[in-house]
Amino acid sequence: MTDSVAAAAARLAAGELVAFPTETVYGLGADAANPKAVAKIFALKGRPADHPVIVHVADAEALDDWARDVPEGARKAAAAFWPGPLTLILRKAAHVSPAVTGGQDSVGLRCPSHPVAQELLRAFAKMGSGAIAAPSANKFGHVSPTTAQHVRDEFGPDLLILDGGACDVGIESTIVDLSRGTPVLLRPGAITREQLAHALGVEPRAPDADAPRASGTLASHYAPRTPLELVAEAQLELRVRELATAGKRVAVLARGPARASAAFVWQAAAENPAAYAHDLYAYLRSLDSSGADIIAVEAPPADLAWDAVNDRLGRASKAVNESDEP
Ligand code: TXA
Ligand code: MG
Repeated sequence: MTDSVAAAAARLAAGELVAFPTETVYGLGADAANPKAVAKIFALKGRPADHPVIVHVADAEALDDWARDVPEGARKAAAAFWPGPLTLILRKAAHVSPAVTGGQDSVGLRCPSHPVAQELLRAFAKMGSGAIAAPSANKFGHVSPTTAQHVRDEFGPDLLILDGGACDVGIESTIVDLSRGTPVLLRPGAITREQLAHALGVEPRAPDADAPRASGTLASHYAPRTPLELVAEAQLELRVRELATAGKRVAVLARGPARASAAFVWQAAAENPAAYAHDLYAYLRSLDSSGADIIAVEAPPADLAWDAVNDRLGRASKAVNESDEP
């Protein structure tokens, strides 16, 4: 075990916060069994207290420690995708604090695959509960961090951050609700609907009005501070010219090589969805601080392979006053 991981585990055991890498995005962690420590996450993020946080565990054996009435589907999904970018919403075990669940009867469980996250979970199991409550390590509603520097940019130098490099996946985990009978896909991610359907033997449904609250499912979320507009591929050139003519500095994010245009900055993005997702948040952060007045994002294909990316871009493009937050 590295010294920094040992120090981070000791901080968790002492009820303090630490940031750590996962394969999706960086997390802001606290001891999931310590409600006072979990409350510090909400205070630092500026997150409303009724929003639940995911509990990170070292392996699938922890399912029955944190959930009750665990359905067969959860075991199958864990066997297929853990450790990995999948969060399971299950009925919570009696001891799980409302500080973690946002007062709901369910708990979100995820076993991350990043080696540093695994090392931290195992070190913390020797000193404390071994379960880490962690949302993404960003201010509420802002773009998730995919590097240690992003976390530093959000919270400054006082927070202990384990640096595990740039996150492989780059967008948050897939969330599937298995607490209410039929599986419901609450948030698309790298583990696709098809992969889940294959493992569960049933196609997960889209969320309905009864779906549990999830801040990552609010219409306005994952947003840069600069207004972001999604533009159809065929309209991009025209729209950029129109905005530039109106005196706006336009930052463009588009697939494929940079093209000549009236844009103030042009960020070329990958043509395939996994590579695009890997860099998406780093690009949004850099375009956000480029001095542009508006970020124009060329809409990726309306294709299932782009489901998770389109979901995040759709939310990032919604102004705060359009938010459906209760
Ligand atoms: O990839 C990820 O999931 C990252 C890394 C750090 O693991 N975490 C993450 O956490 O994205 P956060 O809090 O930013 O988003 C987690 C989502 C939120 O939308 C939250 O409301 C939802 O999971 N969630 C957590 N527990 C839940 C529960 N019991 N019921 C419904 N939604 C839940
Ligand atoms: Mg988040």
